[in-house]
Amino acid sequence: MANSQRKILVTSALPYANGPIHLGHMLEYIQTDIWSRFQKLRGHECHYICADDAHGTPIMLKAQQLGITPEEMIAQVQKEHEKDFADFNIQFDNFHSTHSDENRQLASDIYIKLRDNGYIKTKTISQLFDPEKSMFLPDRFVKGTCPRCKSEDQYGDNCDNCGATYSTTDLINPKSAVSGATPVMKDTEHFFFDLPAFEGMLKEWINSGSLQQEMANKLGEWFEQGLQQWDISRDAPYFGFEIPDAPGKFFYVWLDAPIGYMGSFKNLCDKRDDLNFDDFWAKDSTAEVYHFIGKDIVYFHSLFWPAMLDGAGLRKPTSVYAHGYVTVNGAKMSKSKGTFIKARTYLDNLDPEYLRYYYAAKLSSRIDDLDLNLEDFAQRVNSDLVGKLVNLASRTAGFISKRFDGKLAKINDTSLTTSFLAKQESIANFYETREYGKAMREIMTLADIANAYVADSAPWQLIKEDDKQEQAHQVCSNALNLFRILVTYLKPVLPKLAQDVEAFLQMELTWDNLDIDLAGHEIAKFKALMQRVEMKSIEAIIEASTENLQVTAEPEVKTEVKSPLEQDPISDEISFDDFAKIDLRIARIAKAEHVKEANKLLRLELDLGGETKQVFAGIKSAYAPEDLEGKLTVMVANLAPRQMRFGVSEGMVLAAGPGGKDLWIMEPHEGAQPGMKVK
Ligand code: 2FM
Ligand code: ZN
Repeated sequence: MANSQRKILVTSALPYANGPIHLGHMLEYIQTDIWSRFQKLRGHECHYICADDAHGTPIMLKAQQLGITPEEMIAQVQKEHEKDFADFNIQFDNFHSTHSDENRQLASDIYIKLRDNGYIKTKTISQLFDPEKSMFLPDRFVKGTCPRCKSEDQYGDNCDNCGATYSTTDLINPKSAVSGATPVMKDTEHFFFDLPAFEGMLKEWINSGSLQQEMANKLGEWFEQGLQQWDISRDAPYFGFEIPDAPGKFFYVWLDAPIGYMGSFKNLCDKRDDLNFDDFWAKDSTAEVYHFIGKDIVYFHSLFWPAMLDGAGLRKPTSVYAHGYVTVNGAKMSKSKGTFIKARTYLDNLDPEYLRYYYAAKLSSRIDDLDLNLEDFAQRVNSDLVGKLVNLASRTAGFISKRFDGKLAKINDTSLTTSFLAKQESIANFYETREYGKAMREIMTLADIANAYVADSAPWQLIKEDDKQEQAHQVCSNALNLFRILVTYLKPVLPKLAQDVEAFLQMELTWDNLDIDLAGHEIAKFKALMQRVEMKSIEAIIEASTENLQVTAEPEVKTEVKSPLEQDPISDEISFDDFAKIDLRIARIAKAEHVKEANKLLRLELDLGGETKQVFAGIKSAYAPEDLEGKLTVMVANLAPRQMRFGVSEGMVLAAGPGGKDLWIMEPHEGAQPGMKVK
């Protein structure tokens, strides 16, 4: 080993135990699996941990619908999940469940530490209650008419039609999605985790850590908005863990879900003598802990989770790595278009290695969404894996077996080998920094070079001439050696192909033996390694995934309201339709003033030609309030009002410039009138 051995614990987000794994999920498991396999290939101690996320109202209700116990349902789903992952060659070191003894114990220990350290508060709140079912209703389980646009059948917290967000109590004619009954308001005592107490610690963690830039920016915004007390309890009936000192009260699923990472690891430690739980989780641990997650759950992993760990006297994650969403053919996965593709449907029709490669080829360390364009997918796999990579072996291996007793020659000209090996550090660095797309491009550039070498040397011609046998032997041996190096580089992405190549080359492919000399080494007979992707397989997938919407319209028991991020995910792109929804208007700054305790914000009163709106804008670095009054700005007039620490913000103003002191707002100008539409 060139560098010393690291101790690494890596996790993917825990999938909910009430539905199948789909190709959107698979992006994350493939991304994490590649990273974990890469660390192992480099000789590090790395443990890849996961579990099913088994608690919460949706799971409880789904089991009820199915007429089975939640325990039965989650056991069944866990089996399916594990099979899907195994068939995608996802190599977990442990897959467990959050509904486990280990997790119950850890959740209880952590809660008690938090409570004893003064971080748990109680408060009586008023919530919608289903009198028929005798249960409190999460916002997602209340439906009614939108108070703004009056469209019917909208969720309790936001309207799909006009995008308004509101409080469930504002919904017109609310109905319980569980029973259809009209909910009533009822008081209940809840437990809160004191997140604001950790603001200083979190800021320090973020600045010292290796968080992605987009994430650090988002966290900055959340700090600016102010951290809130986090409601961590739910009333019975609830499928979860009862809070130790509070009968009838349960931990909210998101309290014990991340603890599930530890629960699964504890379960692994108990099975293995060489692993010690505290080595990874104690405050003074020198091991590295990484969480790979989707952009929708950043809030939980970068605020609540490190705060909980810190408050309980444990170490914090080394880093949290978020990725974007998967779109298929440029749009959100859709059941009616047949692009909501389950892992199992894919596996029934195509080789998992194709998708692993395609995702790798398109992944970067950023939080961008990733488009699975199915035609591009087929074309890329066929051209790179079949056309470039496998072709290297299929064009040369036969001659070695038939003419040279299956033995490789001592290569005379090692210049290509040397140049291929020279790329190992840059490729390793791309894997380490999750720039898989760059790694794949580097590797495919090498494959092009190797193919050009084979084409120029034309061993199929040489082999026909008696005096060129040695030359043919050289070319084929050289090509297979380059092929070996490329497959070693690709081993984290294509574990099954690598395994088949190991059988064919009769040797283990490791980073350490990249520079091995194969003179005289005997290889096995070549067997086809990979087939082309056929468009008919893709069509079969779409066909099998296209559901008649009437059939699938099940009661909405899928997602529980998660985080501020669900309405505010980290994303770099919006669709044209999203853009078209934005109502941009000229506004006159009628009043501007400082906001106490806010470093960047000014409070603005904006005149829209009759209507006045209050906006908190982060432009203090560029303007004194008195300079702004009377000026014009462009504002997003239909942004849903947002409760900030200092009051409600009813829109957003746009300014131009690089930031800091240089941010420009318009001077009053003839022709631009407050209230005018900008686009
Ligand atoms: O968003 C989700 O799908 C959650 N089940 C992820 C949980 S990750 C961790 F915190 F447990
Ligand atoms: Zn509406």
